[in-house]
Amino acid sequence: MSGVGATGPVVRPRRLRGSAPLRRLVAQTRLHPADLVLPVFVREGIEAPVEISSMPGVRQHTLESLVDEARACVEAGIGGIMLFGVPATKDARGSGADDPQGILNVATRAVVDAVGDRLVVMTDLCLDEFTDHGHCGVLATSADGRSIVDNDATLERYASMALAQAEAGAHVLGLSGMMDGQVAHVRAALDAAGHTDTLVLAYAAKYTSALYGPFREAVQSSLSGDRATYQQDPANATEALREIELDLAEGADFIMVKPAQPHLDVVAAAAEVSPVPVAAYQISGEYAQIVAAAERGWIDRDAAVLESLVHIKRAGAQIVLTYFALEIAGRL
Ligand code: PBG
Repeated sequence: MSGVGATGPVVRPRRLRGSAPLRRLVAQTRLHPADLVLPVFVREGIEAPVEISSMPGVRQHTLESLVDEARACVEAGIGGIMLFGVPATKDARGSGADDPQGILNVATRAVVDAVGDRLVVMTDLCLDEFTDHGHCGVLATSADGRSIVDNDATLERYASMALAQAEAGAHVLGLSGMMDGQVAHVRAALDAAGHTDTLVLAYAAKYTSALYGPFREAVQSSLSGDRATYQQDPANATEALREIELDLAEGADFIMVKPAQPHLDVVAAAAEVSPVPVAAYQISGEYAQIVAAAERGWIDRDAAVLESLVHIKRAGAQIVLTYFALEIAGRL
């Protein structure tokens, strides 16, 4: 019991918060650069990096500036880098995604060549950056005449992408498309081709969100509509556990929850059941909210960034994907 006790002295939990060294000694959650993964964008056919207006401080990279960024991650002791490609041309089946000369695969080779044994190199495995309709899979027409994302036809495309990315040297493939059976399908394709050491990071619980808005600018997405038929409904928690269970059974090496801060309950639930490392992705809109409020002087940027990452880690994420990775690493 705290406060003024009728029978004894006042119990004083505040004593443990009395000085900075004490607070540091008793902190239960610590961030380390090695826990962090920096998501980066590389765009085909540009001469110089391009600022992303809805993500101030984040750029679409050229191949050269991307390699510099990867080197900076090594210097900062960051755990990994997640590569997203922005192709110059798109089509209905996302042909650029599994073309060995496609921007993401070329960039992967360049990054792995430069820093491959000092940084975990991850690639986004999804079609939305490469399709002209902007969906994460290929489209088909349903019996009643609607345009739908064809789950099983998409799995074939993902398998082909997986091989292209593994051949380019990616260490970890980030399966972000939310198709049913994608982990098992990609794992089988990798194993059959001898890529038994390539890891699969499953975006197991990926929720549909308005906070993906800035990312869509970053990859120049042509999506009209939404992804509600394949990404999870934010109203639901139980189905996240089902998705996690399936991805684990299908052989995921890591599982991820995304967006992170709106779904800390799901991060905590995942950490409780997962025998493999749990990651969480602080997405573009989570970044933009902090940056925009700080630009207006409404919140303190440094404090807000640190706090947000501590929350995500305290909830149970061992690994955090964040656009703040390089910014924060020097302060840890
Ligand atoms: C799909 C993918 C998306 C993000 C990561 N992988 C976009 C989406 O689902 O719409 C979003 C990341 C972010 O917002 O920072 N390729």
